[in-house]
Amino acid sequence: MYAALKSIGSYVPETILSNKDFEKMVDTTDEWILKRTGISTRHIAAEDEATSDLGYKAAQIALDRAPVEESEIDLIICATISPDYLCMPSTACMIGEKLGINNVAAFDISAACSGFVYLLSVAKAFIESGMKKNVLIVGAEKLSSIVDYSDRTTCVLFGDGAGAAVISATEDKSEAIVDIHTSADGRYGDFLITPGCGSKNPCSNEVIENNMQFMKMRGNETFKLAVKTLTKDVIDILDKNGIKSADIKHFVPHQANYRIINAVGKALNLTPEQVVLTVGKYGNTSSASVPMAMNDIYESGRLQKGELMLLDTFGGGLTWGSCLLPFSGTNYADL
Ligand code: UT7
Repeated sequence: MYAALKSIGSYVPETILSNKDFEKMVDTTDEWILKRTGISTRHIAAEDEATSDLGYKAAQIALDRAPVEESEIDLIICATISPDYLCMPSTACMIGEKLGINNVAAFDISAACSGFVYLLSVAKAFIESGMKKNVLIVGAEKLSSIVDYSDRTTCVLFGDGAGAAVISATEDKSEAIVDIHTSADGRYGDFLITPGCGSKNPCSNEVIENNMQFMKMRGNETFKLAVKTLTKDVIDILDKNGIKSADIKHFVPHQANYRIINAVGKALNLTPEQVVLTVGKYGNTSSASVPMAMNDIYESGRLQKGELMLLDTFGGGLTWGSCLLPFSGTNYADL
């Protein structure tokens, strides 16, 4: 039995924050943000919208487009660093409840911006082992709830959104996920960290006064390590599978910074047509960025059934991963 990507969907909240909006909030400029990151706008969830609300809307779309009924979903997994609740219940449980899919296994994983590739690897393992047949995976983030809007080094980077996919069992090898690499190195745990409100520094007035409940990033060091690690990882997965970069139809990287994406694309000799770039309009949406980018090319008709994609992700942990897979669902025009 193989695992295949059968559908994709995404959701972005309505409100848009532009770089000009940030000029009024912190000491920054539209020019700095655009030149250093490629970001122009990012979407921000409403106060009463939680991560599971974003994930639920993306999941609904992915389910509508999948060739299976909701009742056939036998596992829900969500990747997020901005869960509805700090400890429990999981955001996956909340998404299941909103979808009316109860009495199936549901849990969250924590792999930061690498979340979607990690989700694919968990779904693939469950399906190939024969334990599950149809897995709903969701990358969902309300990062605005953990961003410090007084810190110019992080607040301009992140946005809210969600992407979801249905991964199903198939006997047809041509539809199958080809390969996935996932890895991590906790020695760099402090490069991207939310230091407060966990068991290490439980919530207290002192934690809140020091803004320790918000994300911190050692941006430049993370940038350098991301380029080096991702370049090696994507070259390794292509070599291992005997695939040339020219055979990749769509390179769908984690959308953190267009300079990281271009550096990796250049190392693989990819053409601009192969590289999917959505960071300009969505900013960095962590675990949601790859499925949101995939959904963009799907809805524009650029992604067609059978076309090979290369995904790469890098994030807090540090974690990273890459995945080679064809799109095995229904073309958007045929829905
Ligand atoms: O998604 C998970 C993985 N995340 C990433 O991969 C993100 C990786 N990092 C990056 O994308 C980039 O490092 C950043 C966009 C975060 C920063 O770009 P950079 O080119 O690495 O800049 P820098 O951190 O070296 O900072 C350069 C200067 C500093 O000022 P001084 O020390 O040179 O005077 C910063 O204080 O830019 C300053 N700066 C800003 N200036 C205006 C930092 N943020 C801003 C800002 N506006 N928003």
